Amino acid sequence: MDQSLTTKPLDHLHGVALLNDPTRNKGTAFSEGERRRYGLEGLLPPSSESLDRQVERVLSHLDGKMSDLDKYVYLIGLSDRNETVFYRTVMSDPARFIPILYDPTVAEACLAFGHLYRRARGMYITRHMKGRIAEVLRNWPESDIRFICVSTGGRILGLGDIGANGMGIPIGKLQLYTACAAVPPQCLLPVLFDIGTTNDVLRADPLYLGVREKPLSETELDELTEEFVQAVQTVFPRCCIHFEDWKGTDAIRMLNRYRDKVLCYNDDIQGTASIVLAGLTTALQIVNAPLTEQRILFFGAGSAGIGVANLIVSAMQMKGLSQEAARGRISHFDINGLVEPSRTDLSPAQKVYAHKAPPSKDLVETIERLKPTILVGVSTKGGAFDQKVVETMSRLNPRPIIFALSNPTYKAECTAEQAYTWSKGKALFAAGVQFPDVTVDGKVFHPGQANNFYVYPAIGLATYVARPRRLTDACFIAAAQGTADQVDADLRAKGKLYPSQTNILETEVTTATRIAEFMFDQGLAQVERPRDVRNWIEGQLYKPQY
Ligand code: NAI
Repeated sequence: MDQSLTTKPLDHLHGVALLNDPTRNKGTAFSEGERRRYGLEGLLPPSSESLDRQVERVLSHLDGKMSDLDKYVYLIGLSDRNETVFYRTVMSDPARFIPILYDPTVAEACLAFGHLYRRARGMYITRHMKGRIAEVLRNWPESDIRFICVSTGGRILGLGDIGANGMGIPIGKLQLYTACAAVPPQCLLPVLFDIGTTNDVLRADPLYLGVREKPLSETELDELTEEFVQAVQTVFPRCCIHFEDWKGTDAIRMLNRYRDKVLCYNDDIQGTASIVLAGLTTALQIVNAPLTEQRILFFGAGSAGIGVANLIVSAMQMKGLSQEAARGRISHFDINGLVEPSRTDLSPAQKVYAHKAPPSKDLVETIERLKPTILVGVSTKGGAFDQKVVETMSRLNPRPIIFALSNPTYKAECTAEQAYTWSKGKALFAAGVQFPDVTVDGKVFHPGQANNFYVYPAIGLATYVARPRRLTDACFIAAAQGTADQVDADLRAKGKLYPSQTNILETEVTTATRIAEFMFDQGLAQVERPRDVRNWIEGQLYKPQY
């Protein structure tokens, strides 16, 4: 078997150095022969165990942990000691471990990052490395890096600017490439682009580990990012840059600057857009209505709101509408009210959705006037979809589609229970967090979770195998369609808008196959098209085994 798909070869490492290398360490699973050969005799307890026995011990340790944060700390420690056991554990039940490795637990872990810190993972790039970033990247021990997830920590999961504590995000995001889609972990590199922080509390914390300076100016940030992007092209020429959790305006600017120049994407913008489009596609399949006839109101016009709107416009264009007609079907309402032409505070990205209408700061009045069929909350304003909002949507539509995507939970525009109760069970609902099932008048409703983990690991896997020159919006539309098509009639009858979480790897491989086929069809892929794309992908999946 290709060694990159399992634990790495032991090479020249010996003794304690081998035990300290998490990518090669087998711990108690080293055989007697290996113990003799690699100078490990006496350094390990005598019993030689199987990988499954090691996982059994890990699971029993996890059962003894009181909180999810304790479990997170334990699992990160495990990945620092033995990557194979770590991935064997999390891949045994990704649905159980995603909420620990990523949202919501990672938010707590990030807030306490400096206090929880044990060992460096990934790389930190700062302004003090200006002119030497390529040299710094060469310090990383792997040469064939295929994904860098890079964050400034400037806007983490609705927590705002948490500076270098944001390192938990690129680490967790990349772990999900492997946990959900079996992308080999050796080719993943988390990077924290430490540009300083506006967060005074953190800068004053003696245990804060980041640069204790105010953030760079826009010009300085752009220069440093340009050097970083160029350095990545030089040092890791096959690498895809995954931008994650940059401040909204920086995120949009960087994506616009680099999307046509290098292999990159922004998950907050494109991954979110894709997963929302997937949920809308399923909802529209349930009500049997075409996307091109919808009127969509976004509550929130930030990076998520504009990103989702732009992808929907592209999807409508692919179905035959002009760009102008597609944009005309989408409106936004933000902290200053309806986005309309008399507003003087709009960015160029928002202006294209400023359709002629009288100003309004009243959401219900706006809903009455625009009569949206779909309402999408991406505002960070918890509780904004009150009873009046949901009832108005329900009066105007036989099956209103209401997505309350802001997270964490207390920021959701409404809860699943509120959406189903106030709409008397008519709403097709999804949220950014997983709400429990709701019973209304004896009927059980299953709220969907518009979680990016359905899409971006599949995008990662397709990119890993097909090595596209660029990731276009159309790739994310293919991902949305591939995800929606896995919600079968049975799930749709229960009101579910996303695939089941019971076999995430299977779901991701199916979606990745659709994306990779699309990349081949469009001439984006840089490798030769295999006869059976799915089979070929399955042969390249990482397997956590010795
Ligand atoms: P952002 O800060 O860029 O934009 C927030 C937008 O909401 C701005 O347009 C702002 O004017 C508006 N807003 C804030 N307070 C408001 C109020 N009281 N009334 C009306 N509008 C208000 O944030 P971003 O990145 O767009 O994210 C928004 C939310 O969406 C966050 O909570 C984030 O966690 C969530 N999100 C969910 C995802 C998912 O479910 N898959 C993925 C990405 C983001």
